[in-house]
Amino acid sequence: EAGRMMFANPVEFLKGVVAMSGLPPADRLEVCFAGRSNVGKSSLINALTNRKNLARASNTPGRTQEINYFTTQDGPYLVDLPGYGFAQAPVAVVAKWQALLKEYLSGRATLRRAFVLIDTRHGVKAVDEEILTLLDRAAVTFQVVMTKADKVGVKDREKAIEQVRGALAAHPAAYPEIIVTSSEKGDGIATLRAIIAGLA
Ligand code: GTP
Ligand code: MG
Repeated sequence: EAGRMMFANPVEFLKGVVAMSGLPPADRLEVCFAGRSNVGKSSLINALTNRKNLARASNTPGRTQEINYFTTQDGPYLVDLPGYGFAQAPVAVVAKWQALLKEYLSGRATLRRAFVLIDTRHGVKAVDEEILTLLDRAAVTFQVVMTKADKVGVKDREKAIEQVRGALAAHPAAYPEIIVTSSEKGDGIATLRAIIAGLA
């Protein structure tokens, strides 16, 4: 499997960042995982790296409150981002991490690709559109990863893909291939590993 070596141990947690000044030196490429609160960003990183709780996943929206960096073997940093949209945290705190998220997405020179996660049950929402537009403006190529595919049937899955495809047509920074995943069942995980390995 292409990309397997890159995700073999040791994929390690490097640091949690709360301000742009705390970002690690831009000495290699990185890919990030963005998406609404609870969409499955941290779970996807765990699935990619075959680790149960490398990235902290949780039922509580707003679990990831820092920009978390993980190192891969000779590959890009994997960057787990705080979610946007609804979060179970104080308004002032949320505002602070949302500002950091936007600053990061539009201001990190070594960000090679942003994976934007979309829940297969929900499709692209207004809050997602805002992020996609920000990525267009920053000229950061983004690719949609649909999550939690195990929660819907084949028909709804197809419908969801069509909705996302329609939304992407308006975004010049969109990479056309949509990846459908389940961190629970493993669907699409090998494909995503290979894509990330191919970017390095
Ligand atoms: P924040 O850090 O709060 O923004 O959330 P997140 O996007 O990192 O989501 P997280 O990975 O913490 O997952 C949220 C919830 O969805 C958890 O209860 C996960 O177990 C569940 N979940 C994530 N991926 C999948 C999946 O592929 N299938 C199913 N059935 N559940 C999933
Ligand atoms: Mg998270």
